[in-house]
Amino acid sequence: MISAAGCSRPVSAVPLKAENMLHAIDGDVVENAFARDVVRGLSAAVKTLPSRWLYNERGSELFEEITRQDEYYLTRAETSILRERQRDIADFVESGTILVEYGAGAGVKTELLLASLRAPRGYVPIDVADTFLAETSRRIASRFPSLWVRPVEHNFLDLFEIPFGGSGDGRTGFFPGSTMGNLNSSEAKTLLMQMRRHLGGNGRAIIGVDLLKNVDTLLRAYDDSAGVTAAFNLNILERINAELGGDFCLEKFKHVARWNEIEKAVEMHLVSLCDQRVTFYGWTFDFRTSESIHTESSRKYTAESFERLARSGGWKVAELWQDADGLFGMFGLIRC
Ligand code: TRP
Repeated sequence: MISAAGCSRPVSAVPLKAENMLHAIDGDVVENAFARDVVRGLSAAVKTLPSRWLYNERGSELFEEITRQDEYYLTRAETSILRERQRDIADFVESGTILVEYGAGAGVKTELLLASLRAPRGYVPIDVADTFLAETSRRIASRFPSLWVRPVEHNFLDLFEIPFGGSGDGRTGFFPGSTMGNLNSSEAKTLLMQMRRHLGGNGRAIIGVDLLKNVDTLLRAYDDSAGVTAAFNLNILERINAELGGDFCLEKFKHVARWNEIEKAVEMHLVSLCDQRVTFYGWTFDFRTSESIHTESSRKYTAESFERLARSGGWKVAELWQDADGLFGMFGLIRC
């Protein structure tokens, strides 16, 4: 059967905002970035949706909730490293540093780190979400009144300059949350090279990375029993419905976390539960039963495999701090 019938969601025509209108030029060029990525991703032989679109307001809330789930050990482990290894981390970073955060999140880890550093001079959060960025900047500036706070609104995967002003010395990059694991090897290498350029001659970097471990523990972290990760993943389909006028029926897709042994990555998929056809804006996409949309990969590293990645971007590992259970690693990098 190919239809959206039986879906409990009324397929209503959501009023579309002008900026979400698709502009088809020569039949296939689409101006809206979200629409373009959706059309490209769902047209591919192996369907994908880029994970950056998971993080709208609802997505960001759900992600915060993921970090509080029992099965999702990553945030707890990383926070415990920042708490327990404060002294060692402060020794690694020189006094008076400017902290540059790639993809500033809710800022809890940042506050922990800033509080452990010796007389940090500045904080430069980089993020695409301007409201989040402004809020985090304000909070940090009021907690650390002597700190120079300069938010930069950018996708950290794009190439851009940071207007530091002053000398190029004493900058430290911070990239927590195992977000490095969500990048493919060429994105990761490009980001590391860009960090090297931003952070200057004696630049340092502190990178949070989830470590390779038994597959059961890994899979459970991405398929929690309360279903929060499932809701987070399915939210991207809801977003296509709401913002692009799609008619995805969420009940006909299932969240699945899979281990990819070759890539050493947990993959997030949305698997079609039946043969079905989904449309939006004149585009039609057919799904076979069990066909999946790959939405995210979370690569897991060992000390050795992360060292290789760091070197490919012009860095070497000087320190590796771990939590008591050895689940998570914070790597201290220096230029090589
Ligand atoms: N950086 C996080 C990670 O790899 C992102 C993440 C956690 C995530 N859970 C997710 C992304 C579920 C998509 C779906 O662990």
